[in-house]
Amino acid sequence: MVEKTLMIIKPDATAKRAIGDIISMVEDKFEIAGIIMKRLTVEEAREFYAVHKGKPFYDSLVEFMTSGPVVGLLLQGEDAIKRLREVVGATDPSKARPGTIRAKFGTDIQRNAVHASDSPESAAYEIPFFFK
Ligand code: CMP
Repeated sequence: MVEKTLMIIKPDATAKRAIGDIISMVEDKFEIAGIIMKRLTVEEAREFYAVHKGKPFYDSLVEFMTSGPVVGLLLQGEDAIKRLREVVGATDPSKARPGTIRAKFGTDIQRNAVHASDSPESAAYEIPFFFK
């Protein structure tokens, strides 16, 4: 099934000027249906990650995600949600398969370079934060 999914290039990756390298890792596999650079407000970051409210890393995650500009990418393709998760790799970059975006550009479990929607339900919730 053709799906749309959201990828965010996080503040750690924009700061290290990895935007172009990361986009080239997805552009040959997905259609880029939208792209936007923005700085999330604290309110937006809290709502975006609402599912993690109450977890020990939540406040620090919100602080990190609002610490600099991010790039939102709307990616489209056959089975896009699952395929993007494979290209992105495990949450913890030290456990991510070699060749994945997080293995290449992630620093630690929080500063892990990118976010990717993990299900059709999260994609439907997350996409409107970047694309109306
Ligand atoms: P992401 O895929 O964007 O989804 C939730 C984010 O929370 C995750 O990537 C990390 O940036 C962060 N995160 C998840 N688990 C932890 C953890 N144990 N410690 C710190 N940050 C985490």
